[in-house]
Amino acid sequence: MGAETRRNMIQVAVLGYGTVGSGVVEVLERNRAPITQKAGEGLNVKYILDLRDFPGDPYEDKVVHDVDVILEDDEVSVVCETMGGIGAAYQFTRRALERGKSVCTSNKELVAAHGPELIAIARQHQCNYMFEASVAGGIPIIRAINNAMTGEVIEQIDGILNGTTNYILTKMDKEGADFDTVLRKAQEKGYAERNPQADIEGHDARRKVAILASLMMGKTVDADGVYTEGITKITQADIQYAKSAGKTIKLLGSSKREGDCVLAMVAPFLVGKDDPLCMIDGVFNAVCVRSNMLGDSMYYGRGAGKLPTASAVVADVVDCVRHQGRIIPCFWEKEKAPLANLGEIEHRFFLRVKSGAKEAVEAIFPGGRSVCLEGRTEDVGYFTASLKEKDFAERCEILGDTVLSKIRVEE
Ligand code: HSE
Repeated sequence: MGAETRRNMIQVAVLGYGTVGSGVVEVLERNRAPITQKAGEGLNVKYILDLRDFPGDPYEDKVVHDVDVILEDDEVSVVCETMGGIGAAYQFTRRALERGKSVCTSNKELVAAHGPELIAIARQHQCNYMFEASVAGGIPIIRAINNAMTGEVIEQIDGILNGTTNYILTKMDKEGADFDTVLRKAQEKGYAERNPQADIEGHDARRKVAILASLMMGKTVDADGVYTEGITKITQADIQYAKSAGKTIKLLGSSKREGDCVLAMVAPFLVGKDDPLCMIDGVFNAVCVRSNMLGDSMYYGRGAGKLPTASAVVADVVDCVRHQGRIIPCFWEKEKAPLANLGEIEHRFFLRVKSGAKEAVEAIFPGGRSVCLEGRTEDVGYFTASLKEKDFAERCEILGDTVLSKIRVEE
């Protein structure tokens, strides 16, 4: 391609040449023709920002180490932020938006922490801050909420929002392995990070819930306020009891309108076989949206991975190209959405207690159902009747260390 031709194209910069960043370059290259057609203009990757050099890489000549090269180049109109984190990524994003360059990101941590502020800066400078890839990877859930569902009042969003934990729970269910063994195998296969804490402790899903809940409310749902439990305490025994009741265990991210407040949480749930989320296996994600006119709708696909996530970033880039100089509406204001009191929410709960505590648990939680598994003498399962979270917690105190597991039951 000649220099003259490149000058007439939309110039794009990619910040961070890791998994997603290199995926963005690959998607733009491999789907060049349809992307050009849909954008109405050709797209050229002019710069790639990274601390490293990439000798031998076909794009090595695009690599720069100084962000100012990109920010001071007026030809660059769209920046893809695929660095992650909330330090340099935040500063670079702000500065790009202040110069009128649209930013498209996969960085859920940054979106959850500074989304409305960055959207407002973009608005002031007639450009856009886009974050489709920050939730559920390649699944176009942000676009569904912001565009397709503009005629709706969204009441509830539940989903499997983390591929790593869903892979682990699926393997535990299907292969009978314990948590540590499956995690180790997932790390060997590259499905889990070497430091998997953000995934297995639920923090990755918590940020995604905060983003979805904020879009549902049009106000900011504070990610730090989202009640979060991970999957590290789930045992093979819990899975066996769940199975005996026709259920499996899934890490769910939930947000629900409660009047002017929002209930937002991430926790493992026992999910029945008739629930569509029960069928979501392995690294796949799914999001169920309940809205007042459409009713229930569900979105399913690859929630992580190089090309699915990069594809979502590129879709945002194309949207920015189609809307140059215009603001793509996104209703997410800085004002905080108050969080509902989790203690008042009712569920059924599953308890696994030491077998000697069977009578005690039946007396403390009347109206429930005990489950004994053949060959297990050390513990007993119990499904409570529906009760408030705060009452459940209080009564569990009485049972003390006879309680081995407590997991909510999805209705
Ligand atoms: N670690 C995340 C997951 C990547 O497993 O879903 C995508 O956010």
